[in-house]
Amino acid sequence: MPVSEKIVELGKRRGFFFVGSEIYGGVAGLYDYGAIGTILKRKLENLWRKYFLGLNENFFEIETTTIMPEKVFEASGHITNFVDPVAKCIKCGTFHRADHIIEEFLHENFEGKSAEELTSVIRKHNIKCPRCKGDLTEVSILNMMFPIGMGASKETTAYLRPETAQGAYVNFLRHFNIMRMKLPLGLAIVGKAYRNEIAPRQLLLRQREFTQAELQIFFDPAKADEHDNWKQVSKHKLMILSGKKIEEVSCDDAVKKLKIPKFYAYYLAKVQQFFLDTLKIPKSKFRLRRLSDEEKAFYNKIHFDIEIELDGIGFKECGGVHYRTDHDLSGHQKISGESQEVFYDGKRFIPHVLELSFGVDRIFYALLELNYAEDKDRVLVKLPFDLSPFTVAVFPLVNKDNLPEKAKKIYAELKKYYDVVYDDSGSIGKRYYRQDEIGTFLCVTIDYDTIKKDTVTIRDRNTTKQVTVKAIKLVEEIKKLI
Ligand code: GAP
Repeated sequence: MPVSEKIVELGKRRGFFFVGSEIYGGVAGLYDYGAIGTILKRKLENLWRKYFLGLNENFFEIETTTIMPEKVFEASGHITNFVDPVAKCIKCGTFHRADHIIEEFLHENFEGKSAEELTSVIRKHNIKCPRCKGDLTEVSILNMMFPIGMGASKETTAYLRPETAQGAYVNFLRHFNIMRMKLPLGLAIVGKAYRNEIAPRQLLLRQREFTQAELQIFFDPAKADEHDNWKQVSKHKLMILSGKKIEEVSCDDAVKKLKIPKFYAYYLAKVQQFFLDTLKIPKSKFRLRRLSDEEKAFYNKIHFDIEIELDGIGFKECGGVHYRTDHDLSGHQKISGESQEVFYDGKRFIPHVLELSFGVDRIFYALLELNYAEDKDRVLVKLPFDLSPFTVAVFPLVNKDNLPEKAKKIYAELKKYYDVVYDDSGSIGKRYYRQDEIGTFLCVTIDYDTIKKDTVTIRDRNTTKQVTVKAIKLVEEIKKLI
C-alpha cells in the first residue's frame, strides 16, 4: 500500500485530517483537521513563528482580512496573471490543468508555458483525457481566485485572498510608521489562502483552501548585498539542485556563482536551517531549486522553491524564497494613489520585499509522511518532541485500587510543564499503540509500585524501552529524555 494511503487511514483513525463536509460526500480540495491534527498544525505554526520572528527584533506578526477588494488584486497583478492553463475533455466534460496532465504523460515540467505551447504539446503527443481517454479542447487560461459579491445585491466585487502576502503590503506603511520607521521591517501572516484549483489532488498538497505562513521582509534595495549577520551563514552549505544532482554550495559561493544578493542568500540559509534543524527533515529529502524565468511567479525577480521529497511524488514545493522587488508596493501606490515611499537613511524610496513563503499543509503532510514508521505490528509517528501532539501520556495500569487517583495527580503535575494526555481506556498495550500512532513522545504508567515504592515507568516511543524512575523526580527525568 502506498504511504499516502496509509497516512489517509491514519488521518481518519486518529484524527489528523480528513475530507471536509464528509457526511455530504465531501468536496475535492477541502480538508478538515481533527483534534490531533490541529494540535500538530498549531505546533508547526508556532515553531515557525518562534524561529522566523526571532530572526530580527523588527519582525512582527499581524492578522489581516481574508476578503480583499478587487483593486488590491488589480494592483498586485493577480487579476491578469494569476491564471492556470486548462483543457476540457470533449467527451466527459472534465477540466484538467493542462501543464499537469502533460507532465504526467511526459515526466517533464511544463509550468509557465503559454496556452499555445501547451496545446501544441497535447496535439503532438496525442495526449487524451486521463479519465476517459476523450479528446481535449485547446488550452485556455482561467483565473484561480474566488470572486465574491459583497453587499445586499452583491454589488461589490471582492476576492478571497489567494496569498496572505497582500495583507502585509496594504498595511506596510502604517506599520513602518508605528514601528519607528526602521528597515528591514518584517510582517508575518499565518492564515488561510484560497485558490480555485482546477484539479485539487494529492490530499493536503493541492487544496482550494489552505494555510500559508508568510513573512514579508521590507528592506532598502541599496543594502541588498549585505546582511548584518552574514558571517553566521557565509560558510553554510545550501542544498541546491544543479542539473539533476543536489550540490552543497556555501552561501559565499552562492552569492558569487549564482549571482544572488547576500540579503537573499542569508535567508535561504535560514530557511534551510529551519527545515533541517528545527523540523528535522532528513537532509537527503530536502533541496532548494532555482526557478527559470519561465517558471518563476510573475512578481519575482529571484525565485527558489523549497522542496521536500515525498513518496510516489518526488520533490514537492513546500515553500519559496521570493525576491518580489517593489512589484507589489509600486502596484499599490499606482492603483490606490497613496504613496508607498519611505524616508530612510537620508533618502526617499519604495522598499523592496523579500518574501519567505510556506505552505503549512504541505509541510504538515511531509512531517507525517517522513515520520511515519512501522515496527512489527505497530505504527508510529516519530515526530520530534516539540512537534509531537503530546509530549507525555499518563496511564493508570488499572482503573481501581487508587491508581487512577494517583495517575491524575501525576497528570496534573506534569501538565504544568508539558503537553500531557490522560488515557485510561483499554489494555496498556492498546494504549501504547494508540499513543505511538499519534506520535506521543513518552508514556508514563502508574502501577502498584507507584503506591508501594513511589516509582513510575517511562516508555520511549521510538525504542519501546522502559525505565523506572521515582515519581517525585518525574518532571526532571522527562526533561532529560526530551
Ligand atoms: N505569496 C507567495 C505565494 O503564495 P506560492 O508559491 O503560490 O507563493 C506558497 O504559494 C506556498 O503555498 C507553496 O509553496 C505551497 O506550499 C503552498 N500552496 C500553494 N498552493 C497550494 C494549494 N493549492 N494547496 C496547498 N498548499 C498550497
